Amino acid sequence: MKNIIVLTKNELLNKTIQKIFAERNSAINIGFVSLSVTPEKLHEIASEADLFILDSSDDESNTELTLSLISEKYPTTPIILLTPNQSQILLLQAIRHGVREVVNLPLKEKELNAAINKIEKKLKFVQDKGGKILSFLSCKGGSGVTFLSANTAYGLAELAKKNTLLIDLNLQFGDAALYISDQKPVTTLTDVCREINRLDADLLESSLIRVTQNCGVLAASTHINLDQEINPEQIDIILDLAKKHYEFVLIDLGRQLNSVSLRALDKADIIFPILQQTLPYLRDGKQLIDMFISFGYPKEKIEVIINRQKNDATVTIKDLEKTLSHEITHKMPNNFEVVNNSINLGVSPLEVSKNSNLSKSLIEFIRHLSEFPVAPNNGLIRRLFNFPPILE
Ligand SMILES: Nc1ncnc2c1ncn2[C@@H]1O[C@H](COP(=O)(O)OP(=O)(O)OP(=O)(O)O)[C@@H](O)[C@H]1O
Ligand SMILES: [Mg+2]
Repeated sequence: MKNIIVLTKNELLNKTIQKIFAERNSAINIGFVSLSVTPEKLHEIASEADLFILDSSDDESNTELTLSLISEKYPTTPIILLTPNQSQILLLQAIRHGVREVVNLPLKEKELNAAINKIEKKLKFVQDKGGKILSFLSCKGGSGVTFLSANTAYGLAELAKKNTLLIDLNLQFGDAALYISDQKPVTTLTDVCREINRLDADLLESSLIRVTQNCGVLAASTHINLDQEINPEQIDIILDLAKKHYEFVLIDLGRQLNSVSLRALDKADIIFPILQQTLPYLRDGKQLIDMFISFGYPKEKIEVIINRQKNDATVTIKDLEKTLSHEITHKMPNNFEVVNNSINLGVSPLEVSKNSNLSKSLIEFIRHLSEFPVAPNNGLIRRLFNFPPILE
């Protein structure tokens, strides 16, 4: 939910509601209108509304009028009614006008949050998030696929406030969850594939490791050879469902190319091949990119990342671009200490090494993907979220 319209005369109540939403999700727009709003004025601000919150403490006839105005014009938009007393007349009016939730006044944060959660849960089944699929892979082991995909997922969720899913498609020895969490997976991709015929948003959600409210990880199987149970058709179903329910779906493809990973590449909006500045990467990276072009993938779908970038490397960025006949879109600096510290702790550097050069590059990358607002120096957003300074 992005656009919330609060209808109340009470400015203090409006401020409390704003605060509750700000704590849930910073990227929300809240409109504030007085109860005696005209239909024209309401339409001006409410045509894109995802939720109405109506304060009925004024008088019941006014509430009834506003309720009928909203429910006639926006029959599918949910309404939360706030009331100081749940009179029978008011509750009947509420039912008649399709009010989803009634919450008592004075407002308790917990009660409003519970009502919003219930509405969001119902909406999850009908709203298509139109999520982006981002596939990360390499031609060699140890290039940084897991580190970059896991921390990009974490950053999209925590900095850009996007509902994000990371899928570990390393069919053997997957470890993506461990890079940003200390939880052990109870269910994995293999379990989800086994239940594919009854897979829905709830089952997918309950199979994830919840790293934060906005970041979930579908872990790889911890058993060797179970990968034989996973086939491309199942990956199709999982990705189609995931796209509807998450704003970003990131896939750690590791270094393997097989029928399952090819399906994830086909479905990707952007593919991120991860290379380093050495001759073997140059050679194999070229093969990989030529292969993508031969598949008919448009060039814009491929954004090459150089990881462990060093200015004094013998293979320069120019050499790479020339040999690959492809632009290097992103560069992540070499910082062994920060990466190892983060992996050992299972905590993102965006959390523990915010001011490192690597975190700054990760933030730039996340900003590029999500277009989250660029905070001015010492700006409110940065102070609120304690972002490190922005790179010039
Ligand atoms: N930007 C970086 N700076 C310094 N070291 C890095 C960087 N990125 C990754 N590394 C090092 O490379 C190692 C491997 O990283 P990671 O596990 O993300 O690679 P991978 O491509 O997923 O490997 P695998 O093929 O084994 O799955 C890390 O443990 C770390 O030591
Ligand atoms: Mg890996």
